[in-house]
Amino acid sequence: MNQRKPFMAGNWKMNLNREESVALVTAIAEEAPDPERVDVLVAPPFTSIATVREAIGNKPIFLAAQNMHWESQGAYTGEVSPTMLLEVGCTHVILGHSERRSLFGETDGMIDRKANSACNFGLTPIVCIGESLEEREQERTSEVIAAQLQGSLRSFRRQKVLPPVVIVAYEPVWAIGTGKTATPEQAQEVHNQIRQWLAAQFDGNTAEKVRILYGGSVKPDNVKELMSMPDVDGALVGGASLKASSFLPILRFYL
Ligand code: 13P
Repeated sequence: MNQRKPFMAGNWKMNLNREESVALVTAIAEEAPDPERVDVLVAPPFTSIATVREAIGNKPIFLAAQNMHWESQGAYTGEVSPTMLLEVGCTHVILGHSERRSLFGETDGMIDRKANSACNFGLTPIVCIGESLEEREQERTSEVIAAQLQGSLRSFRRQKVLPPVVIVAYEPVWAIGTGKTATPEQAQEVHNQIRQWLAAQFDGNTAEKVRILYGGSVKPDNVKELMSMPDVDGALVGGASLKASSFLPILRFYL
């Protein structure tokens, strides 16, 4: 039995207005499971973060942004800094989501700078990686995952230390928003590879502590099976996190 507490995160993407965000987080806060058993996080759009923070009050729900710049301030029109996220109560930040990579040109190098900066400012990064359908069909999944890890965690590799609070999210691109989930065995295979990579690049202790989340069409009816895998430590949920009726059963996967 590993010591990693399950971590269930809702990535709201570009959805929900402020009123809907407050209603959703309030419903989650009322029914959320025991914080001793599961860590719960929501990631609203930037414009709702402060409002959601207020609605959370002292309930045990972590709050993330979906992106950030690596600098603390400056001439970066349209960007938001780590210190700004801290100011509105974020504890975490999602970095390198496949939608950021494919639609907005984010590279491993940018994600590396962001992840390093997040840690320096005291935000916990959730670093996303995952292969495309074409890459999977060409049996290049391991190679792609290894290259993304190498590139996105380059600064930590250079320092030879990865803060074990860092979270990795494996999100196969072909499973995001498609209703096609990776089978628990497919998820486990990649999660295990990620953990072995962490052990080789850092050390066994770090690899045992880092939580690896699965994302891609996680639903109430498949979460239990996915979470039964030894290296699946949680989920990064998109569509099903937008309604309390589907997110709450995911948070209570162990019942
Ligand atoms: P879906 O759960 O909608 O497939 O989205 C997954 C995701 O991208 C979470 O970050």
